[in-house]
Amino acid sequence: RHGGDRGRGGLRFAAVAPNREDRLVVPEGYESAAVVRWGDPVLPDAPAFDFENQTAEAQTRQFGYNCDFVTFFPMGGSRGLLWVNHEYSDEALMFRGYTGGNAATEEQIKIALAAHGGSVVEIERVGGSGQWRLVTRGRRRYNRRITAQTPMKFTGPAAGGDLLKTAADPSGTTVLGMLNNCAGGTTPWGTVLSGEENFNQYFVLGSGAPEEQKAGLKRYGIDITATTPGGRRFDRVEERFDLSRHPHEANRFGWIVEIDPFDPDSTPIKRTALGRLAHEGATTTLAKDGRVVAYMGDDSRFEYIYKFVSKKRYIPGFDRHNRTLLDEGTLYVAKFTGDSPAAEIDGTGRLPADGRFDGSGQWIPLVTGNVSHVPGMTAAEVLVFTRLAADKAGATKMDRPEDIERNPVTGGVYVALTNNSNRTAAQVDEANPRPSNRHGHVLEIVERRDDAGATAFAWWLPLVCGDPNDPATYFAGFDKTKVSAISCPDNVAFDRDGNLWISTDGNALGSNDGLFVMPVTGREHGYLRQFLTVPIGAETCGPMITQDQRSVFVAVQHPGEVDGASPEAPASHWPDGGTSQPRPSVAVTWHTQGRKIGS
Ligand code: FEO
Ligand code: CA
Ligand code: CA
Ligand code: CA
Repeated sequence: RHGGDRGRGGLRFAAVAPNREDRLVVPEGYESAAVVRWGDPVLPDAPAFDFENQTAEAQTRQFGYNCDFVTFFPMGGSRGLLWVNHEYSDEALMFRGYTGGNAATEEQIKIALAAHGGSVVEIERVGGSGQWRLVTRGRRRYNRRITAQTPMKFTGPAAGGDLLKTAADPSGTTVLGMLNNCAGGTTPWGTVLSGEENFNQYFVLGSGAPEEQKAGLKRYGIDITATTPGGRRFDRVEERFDLSRHPHEANRFGWIVEIDPFDPDSTPIKRTALGRLAHEGATTTLAKDGRVVAYMGDDSRFEYIYKFVSKKRYIPGFDRHNRTLLDEGTLYVAKFTGDSPAAEIDGTGRLPADGRFDGSGQWIPLVTGNVSHVPGMTAAEVLVFTRLAADKAGATKMDRPEDIERNPVTGGVYVALTNNSNRTAAQVDEANPRPSNRHGHVLEIVERRDDAGATAFAWWLPLVCGDPNDPATYFAGFDKTKVSAISCPDNVAFDRDGNLWISTDGNALGSNDGLFVMPVTGREHGYLRQFLTVPIGAETCGPMITQDQRSVFVAVQHPGEVDGASPEAPASHWPDGGTSQPRPSVAVTWHTQGRKIGS
């Protein structure tokens, strides 16, 4: 089924063993270093980081908290730009003595708002190696901080509609900030797509939920029964976060945001045509006829996989045209059908008689431009309440769809399904075959005729994660005595050779999270090996393998985030060591002899 002869390895490193070390552990022959840390200067006038004397003013100029999606734009020579998402703030680790948003100082709340969003930073190669470091001198013309307060605009069919209007924005076309930006992608025209994920956690319902809003709020995970405000209490600084006063404010989050990293004055755009959900991210590719396709996961238990297909075609070099492509098209949701008898998907997680969890699937259209395909919902309602539309369409409820990426060599579309402890034996299906799925799995979609614009596809599960000694695991049929244990796949990426890289979040096997790589064709198909592990309490985000394959970037998110940890009792001292506070940071790993990553 796979064309070509690549995607099959060339990987010779010795796997990193599972561990609980408070450092980045890389294979023999490799080195790693932090590139940019929470608090490092982004804007040229940023003050030096001072954990004990933080201010919002400083944080709006410094690298934000909890780095997640990482992408890299080479600029020629020895320079490049990094784009990094800042997903969320963890006040219990950021501030001494923090006991919750009700007792927080207003300055702490403002620091947290400023710690969200994203950063553009210029980096430079160290010597001729695969190591990169932050540029800390000179003009740095592209460097930028985007926060939860940066002005943005809405475009696409839902922009300007009643559901997006608030007292502060009666036009329904502008919004302040982005929240919980998790993974992302890039576009063929060189911009970043950043996914707003668990935005539900930022709102309160001071005097209760307005009756007509309840169904929508509830479907997006906002607790409509909460009687006392909790959480970060952003509403104490900005009233818009109280939905009892500004009920539409929540509708203005949960979008894919497009950012031009090469224009620091540009206004980020929330593209409503791509729907509103707990967006893990968005990855683009081109259909055979040149239309732009964006694959998207909605990361919650029993949520769906989506794709957007633009109406018009991408025209290389025609920037003004290309930048309109994500405003008009069709939004689809995926339905997966298994090919084995239901009785063989018996809740043990073992393979069915045909030897594979596999089948066929369909992309069900939800909305095309201003035309809804969902009875009883307008196009704007489908885009703002996409989950409700997908429910009606009969899509397949998945085990937390996270990052999605198309293999540049084979064309396969890989989806990380991180876990779902709530699935019962009665709820298993061939695409989600394990009850209480603690370790997750990886699904490959093979679009009909390898055309990303197709509406039908085949699929299978090349990886069912966990301890390889567990009979309910599967590594594409490879010898399980040779592979690494893996749990909770979150982000996926490919190197130029088409090998699949997987980073994890929440390792339920008890060891630190890490980064893995697996060939997807050839004799070593399924030979999954651990390439690195991250420090105590961290998840591994990114990852990003540079086109020259000499550097791999990972975002080390929330080091030291374990139950009961605080600045008085840090669980990690990474990356600065000694008795320092942990700092979420982007790290780079390279081969000391300059060899290709994985060799
Ligand atoms: Fe923010 Fe779905 O991980
Ligand atoms: Ca089957
Ligand atoms: Ca993620
Ligand atoms: Ca995750």
